[in-house]
Amino acid sequence: MDYQPLLDEIAAKVRSEVGRGAVASYIPALACVDIDHFGMAVADVEGRVAGVGDWRRPFSVQSISKLFTLALVLAERKGEREPDTERETEPEGEPGTEDRGSEDIWRRVGREPSGNPFNSLVQLEYEDGIPRNPFINAGSLVVTDRLLTLTGDARGALRAFLRTESCNRTVDFNIAVADSEAEHGHRNAALAHFMADYGNLDNDVADVLAHYFSQCSIEMSCRDLALAAGFLARHGLRGDGSRLLSVRAAKQVNAVMLTCGAYDAAGEFAYRVGLPGKSGVGGGIVAVVPGRCAVAVWSPGIDEQGNSVAGVAALDHFTTLTGWSVF
Ligand code: DON
Repeated sequence: MDYQPLLDEIAAKVRSEVGRGAVASYIPALACVDIDHFGMAVADVEGRVAGVGDWRRPFSVQSISKLFTLALVLAERKGEREPDTERETEPEGEPGTEDRGSEDIWRRVGREPSGNPFNSLVQLEYEDGIPRNPFINAGSLVVTDRLLTLTGDARGALRAFLRTESCNRTVDFNIAVADSEAEHGHRNAALAHFMADYGNLDNDVADVLAHYFSQCSIEMSCRDLALAAGFLARHGLRGDGSRLLSVRAAKQVNAVMLTCGAYDAAGEFAYRVGLPGKSGVGGGIVAVVPGRCAVAVWSPGIDEQGNSVAGVAALDHFTTLTGWSVF
């Protein structure tokens, strides 16, 4: 399918939405981004990419990184046999074929929508230091902690994965953004210390926070992100055809994205877009049409829940025009 006319039509339709909302300013280094950017890219399951607007311009992925760190943790099988690479022949649900990473991580983080802001502290106390899901900040800190234990270098493992999947060796951290968040990230520090008190972090709190701030500071374009999320459209297969996640785990990650990827606006996102999606306060959103394509959109103006105003509008048009909402 030729996505270019569709993307051109969407860009024209959302023009009046670009510039609405506000640029994230609680991380000071993000506040200087021009609110008037808009870009969108689609990567199909074969790795063909089409884009419109600022689709090649790198931006701060922020919470979109949470999707990839979760996938890397779930991919860890600790010596268990690799499932078959053909989707149809993968045995599901047999003893020993469950992803080992998932056994460990789902004891430490839930998979229900929080209905609270992404950086909320209140729920964590009621629920004994177990975050509701891996996409709120507390949950992602636990995932990063696990990735640090598994790899010894969570941010390095993430960067290597993203460079490979996006076929872009220039994907990197923005040290100024990471430092800016470290300096002002008192809420994340509070969440991490609180969970450490409950025994839900294995590594040193300062190390976990440093890796988390670095992962959020990674800069990628819509093109890079659409390619990097392709494994979720391919039911767990990486760009080179090797398996990252079992079919079952890929299904599960998409489900958690659908229910938790837009925080306390997850219901609204499902209502308007109807696809698994993950947003970031940099103004990016990644969405997945399983079996078809991954879509990335960027426009820095975000709403009060932290989701790009023009980005959600663009994805709304995308699923309306294609009929590819899962609903
Ligand atoms: O931890 C934070 O607050 C940021 N580094 C990421 C938050 C974020 O992107 C939430 N997304 N909508």
